[in-house]
Amino acid sequence: MKIAICGAGTVGTGVAQILHDNADLISLRGGEDIEIAVVASRRRPLDGPLQGYEFTSDLSSVCERSDVDVIVELMGGTTDAKRLIEQALKAGKSVVTANKALIAEHGDALFDLAAEHKVSLKFEAAVAGSIPIIKVLRESLAGARIDWIAGIINGTANFILTEMASEGVSRSFEAVLAEAQSLGYAEADPTFDIDGTDAAHKLTILGALAFNQPLRFDQVHIEGITEIEPSDFKFARAFGYRIKHLGVARLLGASLEMAVYPCFVATSAILSGIDGVLNGVLVSSDAAGETFCSGAGAGAGPTGNAVVADLIDLHRQVLGPGSDALTRNDQPLKVLRPEETKAGFYLRITVEDRPGVMSAITTVLADFGISLDKILQEDAANHCATVALVTDPILQGVVEQAVAELEQHDAVLGKIQKIRVF
Ligand code: HSE
Repeated sequence: MKIAICGAGTVGTGVAQILHDNADLISLRGGEDIEIAVVASRRRPLDGPLQGYEFTSDLSSVCERSDVDVIVELMGGTTDAKRLIEQALKAGKSVVTANKALIAEHGDALFDLAAEHKVSLKFEAAVAGSIPIIKVLRESLAGARIDWIAGIINGTANFILTEMASEGVSRSFEAVLAEAQSLGYAEADPTFDIDGTDAAHKLTILGALAFNQPLRFDQVHIEGITEIEPSDFKFARAFGYRIKHLGVARLLGASLEMAVYPCFVATSAILSGIDGVLNGVLVSSDAAGETFCSGAGAGAGPTGNAVVADLIDLHRQVLGPGSDALTRNDQPLKVLRPEETKAGFYLRITVEDRPGVMSAITTVLADFGISLDKILQEDAANHCATVALVTDPILQGVVEQAVAELEQHDAVLGKIQKIRVF
């Protein structure tokens, strides 16, 4: 499959890097190599993984090329990107895009155009970076009636809220935002991240998919995170909540709530634990109950990964039936026996409570080359004591030998409890 990458920013770079680094896997899983035929953007990439490919600054030319099967639109914006995608679809080329604003604001017309020309318009990368939430809604929950979706769907806003909530951190809103920008999380115009627009674009798409609705970005209620003050985090904590910026699409009777807003989320709730640039989406449906997906919501690798997955999907569509079979490597990897694997181990040892016992235990462990991470002793009744310890990572086979030797020691009483540390 030959592709044109249009847009040489963070995501375009991420896609090229993945196609290069994982070429063997992609070819095995997708049934064909994915090659970059041409890179199109305003400026030629002078370094990084996008350099060295044929380059053009004439975007529309890529749609006319017979050696390009798929157009990958990673420019962002809703003007040039829209024109490019329309032109590509009309030329009979499938499109993969990460452009949430474009899908949210013009998606219905673009999907109609794709159907008319019997090609695909794929957009997994448009919502929540690496999280396959579009696939979950379209495929995994295709047979379930969805009641509601609640998600942390802007990594930059979540990053800022997480930092602002940390006790002892006194960085300003601006300083945290600048870091998010330097890490490549923030939008070109970061106002979209903090005023809720970016989350609203994504929520528009999720709500439309979940409830089979038209894409109606203009009807989403939007609140950002700019009004939240440091004291709000303090009171949230005192009441047992964390402040999260959520996108909520919820069926209420015969109507829909479609909104993004900051809100108090109980500390015990699963979305409370989604911190930093992570995104998390919780979907409640009649058949499946609550389904939760979490992962990196922004950045070159995570978003690039979603683009590459869509490309592989497209090729599987071309291959047709049979392409859903499990792909197998010609040279299978050896599967390790448990004793060949490494982990830290917790050991609980009941011993006689007399001088020299602790030293005897640690000597046996040292003789096997087992280093200790933590150790505790508690006195029990009847001149017994319990020694609990955690080892540093070590081969399971070595721990088993050490345990067998310890169990022979006259100060060790009964069987030693052994549990892996994950
Ligand atoms: N600016 C977006 C975010 C990038 O921070 O989530 C991914 O859409």
